[in-house]
Amino acid sequence: MQRKKPAPLSVWRPLNLDRFLLGAPHYPEHVDESSWRRDAERMAAAGVNTVRMGEFAWHIFEPYEGKFDFGLFDRAIEILGAAGIDTIMCTPTATPPRWLTVNYPEVLRVDVNGHPASHGSRQHADTTSPVFRGHSRRITRAMAGHYKNNPRVIGWQTDNELNTTVSESFAPATRLEFQKFLQHKYGAIDALNFAWGGHFWATAYDDFSQIELPRPLMPSYPSPGHVQDYHRFLAAATAAFQHDQVEILRAANPDWFIFHNLGQLVDIDFRGQFGQDLDFIGFDIYPMLYDEMRRTGGHAATQALHLDICRAYSGNYIVPEQASGFGSQPGFSTMTPEPGEMRRMAMTSVARGADGIMFFRWRPAHFGAEIYWMGVIDHDDVPRRRYDEASRFFHEIAAIKEQILGTVVRMDVGIAGADFDNQEAHKTYPMGLPGPLDDAMLLHRYCYHNGIACGFIHPEDDLSRLKALYVPHWVMWKQEWNAAVEAFVRAGGTLILSALTGTRDENNHIVRDQAPGRGLSALSGVKVTEFGRLVPEGGAGLFPLFRQAAVGAYVPPAPLPASSAQRKYHFTFGNRQFEAAHLYELLELEPDTEVLGMWSNRFCAGQPAITSRQLGKGRVVYVGTYLTQQLAEALADVVLARAGVAPLLPDLPDGVEVSIREAEDRQLMFLQNTTDGPVAVPGVSPGLDLLTGRPTAGSLQLEAYGCAVISLSPPARLLRK
Ligand code: GAL
Repeated sequence: MQRKKPAPLSVWRPLNLDRFLLGAPHYPEHVDESSWRRDAERMAAAGVNTVRMGEFAWHIFEPYEGKFDFGLFDRAIEILGAAGIDTIMCTPTATPPRWLTVNYPEVLRVDVNGHPASHGSRQHADTTSPVFRGHSRRITRAMAGHYKNNPRVIGWQTDNELNTTVSESFAPATRLEFQKFLQHKYGAIDALNFAWGGHFWATAYDDFSQIELPRPLMPSYPSPGHVQDYHRFLAAATAAFQHDQVEILRAANPDWFIFHNLGQLVDIDFRGQFGQDLDFIGFDIYPMLYDEMRRTGGHAATQALHLDICRAYSGNYIVPEQASGFGSQPGFSTMTPEPGEMRRMAMTSVARGADGIMFFRWRPAHFGAEIYWMGVIDHDDVPRRRYDEASRFFHEIAAIKEQILGTVVRMDVGIAGADFDNQEAHKTYPMGLPGPLDDAMLLHRYCYHNGIACGFIHPEDDLSRLKALYVPHWVMWKQEWNAAVEAFVRAGGTLILSALTGTRDENNHIVRDQAPGRGLSALSGVKVTEFGRLVPEGGAGLFPLFRQAAVGAYVPPAPLPASSAQRKYHFTFGNRQFEAAHLYELLELEPDTEVLGMWSNRFCAGQPAITSRQLGKGRVVYVGTYLTQQLAEALADVVLARAGVAPLLPDLPDGVEVSIREAEDRQLMFLQNTTDGPVAVPGVSPGLDLLTGRPTAGSLQLEAYGCAVISLSPPARLLRK
């Protein structure tokens, strides 16, 4: 397979491959060699074209330091290749072998109390350690050299879910690397002292060597500048660790595609070097199927949310690990996907931008920390319903891949996302407020349930395809983004700014302009004269960050005592009364700015809360508070409808997902029934259901967990492409 050079990072970027990757992570080292051929035959019959291997097998590739042995994987690759199946190889750096941690104990991560990680699980080595980086380069060089001429090895995954279990280490070497990072960034210690606010609590330094890694609450809060730079350091170190491997792999064989499988996006700045080094993103999807995820609109809405967030980093992606069945580790388990649900979940991934799906895992392990993490085949080596479903899905996708590849997901409403600095800036000083993604989730949920094409986008991306852009409390808004958003508005777009946007600079200092700063006041025609904290909606106090939300380990909010649910502030908007949550801002308006919402009680009564300013053909809306579910709905009614945003289907039934993937010459409407009963979907446009070959128009029947992929163009036109 020949890799094409990838286009620059963009939410509108399809994959640079001409193949739809269909397959599974595979662990030949976990099963007897006598079953390999049968595995390969069953895979081929199911429609598998690619497997992923090797991510935890360093001890097999290099059983002793400097002694390499590729025999086991060579034989596995050959048997699979004979059945027409290619291999994605992984650098195995998530599990350095025991000889390495015995001989070089300094590579082990050290916890906040100074205890080194013990050998015996994974991600125990510190990716910031120069010694570990040396070993990582060594094993990568050996593997790249060995496989560079093997035509069956078509691409690479770097490591495995970097930072997902842990991103930090408090080892002396990590501290030294942090100091070097700061020295490189600031040059002189005075510049750092200014950036971190050294005159506050005597946190000024004489020399970079005096600087500590920030430790949570030891004894009190560190400077937000210090914490922000610490997370920038962790992200830069993660990118540098990966860059070592990418450089070696690219030099060995430039035709290989390279990706990383993201688990939870912790201390990874995908839009920086980390993502620029890769061909595309891989995103592992394990919907937990827990009912209590209903707070986020249900587990299906949560899966869609995570996929949409991930797409904002680099456009279309692959899912190297798509849940196939019941999953567990000793401390938790998922619910079991019901018949049809495995296919439905995979179809949701495709509907929201996946150009490759690999079901985790081909076979379950009989030993180790995931003995009850099921695969496509069962423990007793019998293919049952999950095999049949995988096979159905692979054949269906293979039959329509020409139509799917090259399309991108339509988005009418964009939510500003994928910005590392803004996500981190919130976490350095959260005050119990929802983070940007927690807030944006409410708008996303509304759009998801109402069939509105909504996703996440970065302000540096092409905004012209959107009708509306919502910016969720980005405190570190950059002035250089203003020209693009202003052009978007003047051309007819609606920009929605929200409380606290543009109030800090890159050092996490509060800006000196009247808020919203960074030129946003001039754009919105609004000046904030006062702000204050409010209790969250319903008195609940805890907002899980993306760290917890990424694979669905949802933490329910802890209720606050009733006494703290006093001081309710209300506002009117679109002829309705609302209770505000989290924060109020009082606004002073320019004469050309119109009031859409007004505070209506206590001392704020009569002051503007939500405003709108016409600019060219579009407008800038300012919302001086945080979203609640009710406010998100009202914004859709009052603001999005006026921006020309309409649902993709007029009467979307509960539990049905809709999205569109499109290219210049075609539009594919994806429908997934996420419920366990049949549903009739009314108002479907004329087209052809590519999965059944049946024409559509009007009402479409979907079975329990049923899916449809409707080509909205006449088929003759599709064939011409
Ligand atoms: C993923 C990880 C896999 C496996 C899987 C199931 O996050 O990449 O190696 O552990 O979860 O637990």
